[in-house]
Amino acid sequence: MSASERRGSTRTAVVWDVLRPVLDGGGTLDVLDIGGGTGGFAVKVAELGHRVSVVDPSPDALASLARRARELGVEVEGQQGDLSSLLEVTGADSADLVLCHGVLEVVDDPAAALVTIREVLRPGGSLSLLVGQRHAAVIARAMAGHFPQALAMLDPAVAPGRSGHRFTHDEATSLLVDAGFEIAGVHGIRVFADLVPGSLLDLEPGSTAALVELEQAVADRPEYLPLATQLHVLAR
Ligand SMILES: C[S@@+](CC[C@H](N)C(=O)[O-])C[C@H]1O[C@@H](n2cnc3c(N)ncnc32)[C@H](O)[C@@H]1O
Repeated sequence: MSASERRGSTRTAVVWDVLRPVLDGGGTLDVLDIGGGTGGFAVKVAELGHRVSVVDPSPDALASLARRARELGVEVEGQQGDLSSLLEVTGADSADLVLCHGVLEVVDDPAAALVTIREVLRPGGSLSLLVGQRHAAVIARAMAGHFPQALAMLDPAVAPGRSGHRFTHDEATSLLVDAGFEIAGVHGIRVFADLVPGSLLDLEPGSTAALVELEQAVADRPEYLPLATQLHVLAR
């Protein structure tokens, strides 16, 4: 495993743990990865045998996705579009599972985006939502000495800066409930992974597996949620 794969596994292991029962539930699912970028998640889901499409505004990302899928010998349909035009691209009731990872942060209107995703999902379908978490972002900015940015980020009413929106547990789940979703589970992602120097994982044998085990152990403990770089919400 390369150094970046090792680091990546510590950041995504819990998301895969949560998604596994959905993906392994039997049958081939229509999976839509909105803002799927270069397809890090999408190709792995396609390798499990599901029909996967990625909608992303970036032609460069879609080109990388096509290359990655070709190299792995899987089919992933890439379409150019964004959350505001999603229904025109995919149609309503077209997906069993929507992945929306790292995207709600950058859209103008997160509430409207979730309503659109609700319409794209078939009845009984699931949404895997991964968003940046507000409290951890405040701490990260303060530790970097960006005190005015940390102060501004405390208040959800302040317009987001260049790094986009961040969400607390209550903000994310309220947006989902208002859009018509039921919350199936909330997990903290990257509670420790971003705090650990990469060199430690490179030099210390077994440390990647031990860090993954630690992330798994704290992911559903509410007291650690505010420290997590990201929140993962599984919703139906
Ligand atoms: C941080 S990347 C996340 C990529 C991928 N989902 C992942 O988890 O690795 C954000 C992605 O959202 C895409 N994006 C930006 N604005 C978007 C929008 N309005 N609707 C959908 N996707 C958007 C970008 O092109 C980029 O690929």
